[in-house]
Amino acid sequence: MTLSSDHFEFICRFLDEQAGIALEADQNMFVASRLLPVAQRHGWTNLDSLINKLRDHHDRLLAQEVVESLVTHETSFFRDPHYFDELTEHTLPRIIACRVPERRLAIWCAACSTGQEAYSVAMILQERFAEQLRDWSVDLLASDLSATALQQAQSGCYTEVEIRRGLSDARRAQHFRRESTCWRINDRLRQMVRFQKTNLNGTWPQLPTFDLVLLRNVLIYMTPSTRQSILTRIRNSLHPTGYLMLGSTESTNFSSLQIARGRVGSEHCM
Ligand SMILES: C[S@@+](CC[C@H](N)C(=O)[O-])C[C@H]1O[C@@H](n2cnc3c(N)ncnc32)[C@H](O)[C@@H]1O
Repeated sequence: MTLSSDHFEFICRFLDEQAGIALEADQNMFVASRLLPVAQRHGWTNLDSLINKLRDHHDRLLAQEVVESLVTHETSFFRDPHYFDELTEHTLPRIIACRVPERRLAIWCAACSTGQEAYSVAMILQERFAEQLRDWSVDLLASDLSATALQQAQSGCYTEVEIRRGLSDARRAQHFRRESTCWRINDRLRQMVRFQKTNLNGTWPQLPTFDLVLLRNVLIYMTPSTRQSILTRIRNSLHPTGYLMLGSTESTNFSSLQIARGRVGSEHCM
């Protein structure tokens, strides 16, 4: 099943406007396969009715449902583990050393999907820095545009398959408990993370100045102009000694940003 070229072009514009995401010309079948279950849930037997309803611009819930059906939520605990090693061994110790006078740390996972990335950071903070950060104000914000992904993130519940992706047995035993249908993260870790629905391509809520922003595996789906605009806004939200952590295939041409992937970064606190 495919969409007519008119409908496909509409969906491309719609997804760009809504989420800043760019579709490729050869993704027509992919889009149709993702939209069909949405149409069926609403009792429509074909995609024309769904697209016509979307074109009305009145049904915000349907618009959200369509965006959610087209985004990719692929994630795992400690995805690209060497990044988290770098974070543990170099980046966080540097940031924490700089923040000693204020005793304040602010971290943002800006496209957190179902929560594994934010909980990976929380595990590191608890395992390695709990003593140093005692009595500090630690704000670990995790946001995404997907309400369904955030719902799972907030529940802290993961299937057997999800729990096996990236987590060692030791960490599973230390931080999770088995429940009848899932593995649930310990309350202490869950309470360390503040989840919030935020569209990076829309209006952002009031945000603190961050010491570290994880913006991983989301810019790759976006148009160049959206990427640039999001990176500019992130740069403005970062402390001068703050770090940005991107996905392994992503980059920025902002030379003033410190990228927490290799051992790049300022040795000085400001
Ligand atoms: C591939 S996942 C990456 C998750 C995690 N950062 C990682 O690297 O494992 C991409 C996430 O970006 C979210 N996303 C896509 N467009 C977004 C936007 N405009 N604003 C906020 N989140 C967005 C999707 O909902 C999805 O959960």
